Amino acid sequence: MKTALITGVTGQDGSHLADFLLAKGYRVAGMVRRASVDHHERISHLLDRITLVQGDLLDPSSLVRVLEEVRPDEVYNLAAMSFVPTSWAQPVLTGEFTALGATRMLEAVRQVCPTARFYQASSSEMFGKVREIPQTERTPFHPRSPYGVAKAYAHWITVNYRESYGMHASSGILFNHEGPRRGHEFVTRKISDAVAKIRLGLARQLALGNLDARRDWGYAGDYVEAMWLMLQQSVPGDYVIATGQAHTVRDFCRIAFSHVGLAYEDYVVTDPKMLRPAEVDSLLGDASLAREKLGWSPRVSFEGLVRMMVDSDLAILSSRLPRSPERA
Ligand code: NAP
Ligand code: GDD
Repeated sequence: MKTALITGVTGQDGSHLADFLLAKGYRVAGMVRRASVDHHERISHLLDRITLVQGDLLDPSSLVRVLEEVRPDEVYNLAAMSFVPTSWAQPVLTGEFTALGATRMLEAVRQVCPTARFYQASSSEMFGKVREIPQTERTPFHPRSPYGVAKAYAHWITVNYRESYGMHASSGILFNHEGPRRGHEFVTRKISDAVAKIRLGLARQLALGNLDARRDWGYAGDYVEAMWLMLQQSVPGDYVIATGQAHTVRDFCRIAFSHVGLAYEDYVVTDPKMLRPAEVDSLLGDASLAREKLGWSPRVSFEGLVRMMVDSDLAILSSRLPRSPERA
């Protein structure tokens, strides 16, 4: 039985990856940071099957202790400050978590378990103001946010530890991936949640920023398989993971509202406060290398993803509504 350590296990991807690895027969440990109140909603269904260990990307000694306790065969470094707008409000902390956090983790692995395989959660946000369309593993980076800059650093330090120390360290350059477990501040979940609220009479309007931004959106459940596949290769490497199709925020709205019989134009307003100081206008990935070398391809379509998220939010909100007298 192999042992995996997931940092960021309480996040969207961490929870999907834990599900995936448990199904593969792994012993799974998840690193969590101390909080005055536990927020384990995304992993509540598997708390009796995984081990939680306390550590923080800011504290190197805690990472060493976690690795000594878990002794992992595979380390998935998913923890980060992952919301792009917050990276302008907290640029230094974003660098500490998202950039230097990766170095602290790599250094701890090098000290404690240098033969463990390491996965770094890199991002299409590194392409930023894109230099070519579509983006591949060879496309130069031009990040447009403190978050993107921090991820570019973390990507290169992963490459550097592979080249300097011969570590089995891989970097997955993942394009946006979403699903019912997505945080509410990201645009897809903000839309699916608002559509469900409007359908149920709980809200009347949805304020968004740039409706023309284009993203290559996939399903998170499909993308965690690619992370695992990277660590099963005899040679480590860097891979773009994407669907190869881009849609606008407006497309997402159109499909989400029409799924519940509404027209988005009647409810969506734009609010300049949601615009970013520097926008990533359009991302489109070419995952040919992952398809050829890893045998990976996405399963869930864009329309299927939008419908899955709206249906999930409708079910969550409906279950919280007071029961009508007829149903009581
Ligand atoms: P997420 O839902 O925001 O989860 C982030 C996780 O990181 C949470 O578990 C969080 O813990 C943890 N974390 C943050 N700071 C930490 C610290 N100092 N020490 C320990 N843990 C810390 O993000 P996600 O969508 O699952 O994404 C996973 C990773 O992939 C991130 O690195 C993200 O930047 C990257 N990525 C995501 C996408 C995407 O589209 N989802 C695309 C490319 C790359 P708390 O619960 O305690 O806050
Ligand atoms: N969040 C948000 N809220 N975004 C909006 C809104 C809004 O009200 N209105 C329009 N957008 C636009 C943003 O300007 C951006 O162009 C696009 O929707 C997607 O925004 P997010 O869903 O916040 O995701 P992101 O692309 O900035 O970042 C996500 O993907 C990266 C990979 O490319 C995050 O998951 C990052 O952690 C990840 O690395």
